[in-house]
Amino acid sequence: MPARLIHRPSGRVARPIAVGGVIAGVVLATLAGSGAATAAPDGPGPRYAPGADGAGDPYFPLAGNGGYDVQHYDLDLDYTLPAPAPAPLEGQLTGVATIDLIATADLDRFNLDLRGLTVSSVVVDGKSMAFAHEGDELVVSPRPKLKAGQAASVVVSYGGTTTRPVDIEGELYGWVTTRDGAMVVSEPDGSSTWFPVSDHPTDKATYTFEITVPEGSVAVANGLLEGSETADGKTTWRWNAPDLMAAYLATATVGNFRLQQYTAPNGTPIIDAIDVTRQPNQYANLARTAEMLTLFEGLYGDYPFVSYGAIVDNDSVGYALETQTRSFFSGSAGLGTVAHELAHQWMGNQVSPGRWADIWLNEGWATYSEWLWTEHNGGLTAQARFDAVMTSASQAPWNTVLADPGPTGLFGTPVYTRGAALLHALRVKIGDDAFFDVAKEWVARFSGGTATTADFIALSEEISRQDLTSFFDVWAYQPPKPTSW
Ligand code: TRP
Ligand code: ZN
Repeated sequence: MPARLIHRPSGRVARPIAVGGVIAGVVLATLAGSGAATAAPDGPGPRYAPGADGAGDPYFPLAGNGGYDVQHYDLDLDYTLPAPAPAPLEGQLTGVATIDLIATADLDRFNLDLRGLTVSSVVVDGKSMAFAHEGDELVVSPRPKLKAGQAASVVVSYGGTTTRPVDIEGELYGWVTTRDGAMVVSEPDGSSTWFPVSDHPTDKATYTFEITVPEGSVAVANGLLEGSETADGKTTWRWNAPDLMAAYLATATVGNFRLQQYTAPNGTPIIDAIDVTRQPNQYANLARTAEMLTLFEGLYGDYPFVSYGAIVDNDSVGYALETQTRSFFSGSAGLGTVAHELAHQWMGNQVSPGRWADIWLNEGWATYSEWLWTEHNGGLTAQARFDAVMTSASQAPWNTVLADPGPTGLFGTPVYTRGAALLHALRVKIGDDAFFDVAKEWVARFSGGTATTADFIALSEEISRQDLTSFFDVWAYQPPKPTSW
């Protein structure tokens, strides 16, 4: 896969990449991360410094990294479970991750995020490199040092015992070991539990996977299945995900799956992976996928990726996730949730949050899309759903700043319900034409990248030609229930 430069329209968080400054001819070395920048002796040549240990997201300061931009991850994984699976559930994962990146600063050091696994070697452009694993930060010191604009290939060999990791709220996520494999769902910062990664949505990349599992097990990743080969009691599953993807949307779920493939009316290949223990009523709603695709393409524009499909597993993380091109469902797939995860492919995946504080742009849109699907399907109207939220006794949506829910509030009621209600209120305020123009232009303008609440407000004002300051103030920035807007 050739590396390609990515145009990100805007909305990238500012990365705290420190460089030496030159003021009135004096070279100043600045501190970056935990180490001092190494100033070149003289003149305008490269001044090497360490890349930042985070992407600059206030909610997850160490998620992602500075100083480079990943183009592509090639993940070669080998995974086995002791049989029968013991308690606590544990598996053995070995990986070789080949990471194609481009330096965005002159680097004498850069970090990757990796949690709970052990690194055996790091090779940069064919040469073995010194590295250190400090907490969840893998620190690599490339020699020769990397110049801004330079491409590098970083090969990390690693492995260890897999467990059932939890996120900041205590919810299962990342590489979650199961009786028959693993559920792999990594929002918001769980990708580092299974590969070395720049784990922030602002660094999207393309992916390829080669996942080797015991013969009889199926490994399901993003994109298209390129093939599988069996030898010596093991099967290697090869998947290709050529669309730019945020790390939290990558999956490599393993289990006893039946794969079913068909083509949607728009030509999109649909590949579903259904755990063999599932009963038809647990996945019957997936049959509505093509109809939903048609609805959302009409609202948001062409389906953005090479394929779609669902994974319905027999274990549960307690929620579903919109893993890119292959949504994950815990145990069974409810109709509203099937619509919700599909809508995320545009709203969250094609356009991702610039900072985790902007999560309402994912969940508000996905929830509102559920409302629109329900109305389309002959159920309650979006207006009726809105009215129900506004007249409900529940105060849950009215105790949070929607655009700043805090790192433990990312998946709380306010983000979903108030987010959807905001969108409906906006639709009524600016009219259907402007509202759905905003939706389409949002995905078109920020496709393949990230955007923020400020970008959304600016676009809504641009398209509606209205001053929406007080609208967004009461809906997104003040906790109380809006009374007029
Ligand atoms: N983003 C998922 C969805 O709404 C939900 C999700 C991710 C979640 N992690 C979570 C929900 C943890 C509850 C707890 O489709
Ligand atoms: Zn969602």
